[in-house]
Amino acid sequence: MISHISALPVFLAAATALASNSSTDSYAPYYVDCPDDIQLVRQPRSTSLAESEWIHGRKAQVVDALDSYLWNLDLGDFDTAEYLDRVHADVDYSVPVIAWANSGGGWRSAMTGVGGLQAIDERTPGAREAKVGGLFQLLTYIAGLSGGSWPVSSPTFNDYEPISQMVADWQVDLNRFTDADVLEYFDVIVEKYEAGFNISVSDFLGRAFATEVIPGVNKTWSSIPELPGFKSFSGPFPILIASSINKSSPVEEGVYVPSWNAPWYEWNPFEFGSWDLGFIPTKYVGTIPNENNTAEQCVENLDQASFVLGSVASAWNYWYLEAVTNDTLGMFSKRDGGIRKRNENIDELVELVDEVFSEYFNYTVSQISNPSIPNAFNPSENLTFADGSEAGQSVPFLPLIQPERKVDFIMAWDDDADDEPYTWSNGTNIWDSYVSAKAHGLPFPEVPPVREMLARNYTTKPVLFGCNTNLTTTRDATSPIIAYFANSPYSWYSNFSWSTTNMSYTEANGIMQNSFNLMTQGNGTLDSTWTTCLGCAAIDRSLARVGMQRSQACEQCFEEHCWDGTLTTGVPEGYVLDPSMALDPSVSYAEWTEEHPGMD
Ligand SMILES: *[C@@H]1O[C@H](CO)[C@@H](O)[C@H](O)[C@H]1NC(C)=O
Ligand SMILES: *[C@@H]1O[C@H](CO)[C@@H](O)[C@H](O)[C@H]1NC(C)=O
Ligand SMILES: *[C@@H]1O[C@H](CO)[C@@H](O)[C@H](O)[C@H]1NC(C)=O
Ligand SMILES: *[C@@H]1O[C@H](CO)[C@@H](O)[C@H](O)[C@H]1NC(C)=O
Ligand SMILES: *[C@@H]1O[C@H](CO)[C@@H](O)[C@H](O)[C@H]1NC(C)=O
Ligand SMILES: *[C@@H]1O[C@H](CO)[C@@H](O)[C@H](O)[C@H]1NC(C)=O
Ligand SMILES: *[C@@H]1O[C@H](CO)[C@@H](O)[C@H](O)[C@H]1NC(C)=O
Ligand SMILES: *[C@@H]1O[C@H](CO)[C@@H](O)[C@H](O)[C@H]1NC(C)=O
Ligand SMILES: *[C@@H]1O[C@H](CO)[C@@H](O)[C@H](O)[C@H]1NC(C)=O
Ligand SMILES: *[C@@H]1O[C@H](CO)[C@@H](O)[C@H](O)[C@H]1NC(C)=O
Ligand SMILES: *[C@@H]1O[C@H](CO)[C@@H](O)[C@H](O)[C@H]1NC(C)=O
Ligand SMILES: *[C@@H]1O[C@H](CO)[C@@H](O)[C@H](O)[C@H]1NC(C)=O
Repeated sequence: MISHISALPVFLAAATALASNSSTDSYAPYYVDCPDDIQLVRQPRSTSLAESEWIHGRKAQVVDALDSYLWNLDLGDFDTAEYLDRVHADVDYSVPVIAWANSGGGWRSAMTGVGGLQAIDERTPGAREAKVGGLFQLLTYIAGLSGGSWPVSSPTFNDYEPISQMVADWQVDLNRFTDADVLEYFDVIVEKYEAGFNISVSDFLGRAFATEVIPGVNKTWSSIPELPGFKSFSGPFPILIASSINKSSPVEEGVYVPSWNAPWYEWNPFEFGSWDLGFIPTKYVGTIPNENNTAEQCVENLDQASFVLGSVASAWNYWYLEAVTNDTLGMFSKRDGGIRKRNENIDELVELVDEVFSEYFNYTVSQISNPSIPNAFNPSENLTFADGSEAGQSVPFLPLIQPERKVDFIMAWDDDADDEPYTWSNGTNIWDSYVSAKAHGLPFPEVPPVREMLARNYTTKPVLFGCNTNLTTTRDATSPIIAYFANSPYSWYSNFSWSTTNMSYTEANGIMQNSFNLMTQGNGTLDSTWTTCLGCAAIDRSLARVGMQRSQACEQCFEEHCWDGTLTTGVPEGYVLDPSMALDPSVSYAEWTEEHPGMD
């Protein structure tokens, strides 16, 4: 790959000749006259008017999907017709607000997470029979970070086509770094550089990610409201989040790393910003407001979908640290030490990209490691993003537990590689989110500490938190119920490396089938009440709002599937999480990996 570098000056020369303004098919941001009446930064006291209006439209779709989902589910003695009548009587107030949260974990969390989404899509063969199909159709919000940003943004840009079709369109068998001319990515991002905006490795990586998951690649987030699927409220409202670094962040080997209390930022189709600092219209990200909260010239096109993906999946600082320190630094909750061999392709990519940036842009590793944009909230320092999975809370709960969004139920997909050496999730990230939510007065269910999670197998089998409103940080129904799904082996050892950039469709289907089996508990063969319980949890807060009681069947399954707040002694110190395949325990991880080379 390195030999291609000599071609770069030609690309640079061509790009310099381009006018930097207002080419709509350019990657470069450009300036336009701001609308006369624009107020750029909005205080974060509520959701935007545009979001509230869109959610109103979405709820009308969700209520129809609710009919279909509930009639397919058998809630025993429950009066489904009465419940639906009451919900229909005041849809905005009563319909359950359901969200999906997809953790980071690189290509692993993208593939296992999209498998989870495929399982709950009513259009997937077998999904309705297994009683989980239709939950996707009930989602109002979908949030992601890092690798979780791909399954979260792709459905919207694909007009909510069936998830199985969407994954076929991804072409997961292609490696977007080695099967592509990576210099073409530079050719495009140099347009932004020439326009005077900071570029970084995130712009480069974002091009590769978007080529896979964003049809047409050159889309902006602010154009989402014009997409037919979004316009007709056909699927959930996408939100991506990133952590941040600034000049006072910790430094390792010359690169910044985020501290756990650093501000978080969110991208949504209408706005960009933070629940602490404020929001600016997504369309005008990069614009610095004047003293009157307006501007003569507004920046547009800094919200390219590829850059947005790069800005939330920008763990380059950690890739770099792992490469230069032989996995001694840069090891975070999704570390790849232990049984893994170093991914030499990634090391080679790190070397190539560092070299191009340094030779042709004169950028140091520190300057390219994290993306930055002009900061509407603090003009004296550019706003610099960091990958949220480096900040201790890799499941993107934060945008979903803002009280203004009134989320009732969160399906949390956790695919962090916490536990050494087999890199399965051990609950660390949801625990961190609980601790942080509690400290900030945000609604969240109580969850047990990691050693208790492990003792109860909550990371190998799905569980519900917060069914009892007393077991929440708010002690009332403002806290959502969380269904917690940690990636775990059912029919496939799905703890492969985050850096597995491509795979055969046989492998992809094996991974997604594993997520299906996890979601449905092997079509009920491992647990006959789980899928009913999931339905009970999905409507529970709404049920209380319309003044109805849980059914007997729901009460019973909650006894079994909701954490009751009690603690045991937990697993002993030094416990190693090494589950075998739930549907075929006789096949050991060692035997299996021998038969599936490349999937370790
Ligand atoms: C681009 O727009 C800015 C702001 O309106 C203006 O100052 C500049 O001259 C324009 N550049 C080109 C190449 O048109
Ligand atoms: C995307 O935009 C770039 C210019 O920034 C252009 O070279 C490329 O052809 C466009 N790609 C598509 C698929 O339209
Ligand atoms: C569950 O059902 C799906 C779809 O019908 C099927 O592909 C899968 O093999 C089944 N799994 C088990 C464990 O029976
Ligand atoms: C922000 O980044 C831009 C582009 O790289 C740079 O020109 C500008 O000086 C930076 N601003 C601050 C306040 O650091
Ligand atoms: C800068 O980073 C520190 C350390 O993470 C954080 O506490 C602080 O809030 C950040 N400041 C801004 C303006 O982002
Ligand atoms: C802000 O508004 C005041 C009052 O209308 C005006 O005098 C001032 O020039 C404005 N400032 C800018 C930077 O436009
Ligand atoms: C990197 O670490 C591994 C495992 O700790 C060790 O076996 C290997 O020798 C180290 N490589 C170098 C170049 O230090
Ligand atoms: C490259 O950047 C450094 C500062 O990082 C500066 O000292 C040097 O002059 C620059 N070199 C060129 C060729 O622009
Ligand atoms: C890009 O942003 C980083 C982080 O703010 C900064 O260190 C670097 O100097 C910026 N690059 C340019 C060219 O301004
Ligand atoms: C769980 O994972 C975290 C993060 O990698 C690790 O620090 C911790 O030791 C693990 N805890 C247990 C009990 O395995
Ligand atoms: C957890 O799973 C292990 C292995 O399957 C089993 O031996 C143990 O009894 C389970 N513990 C609980 C509390 O279900
Ligand atoms: C919650 O706690 C209160 C006060 O201890 C108690 O009266 C109530 O029954 C509890 N609610 C539930 C659902 O357990």
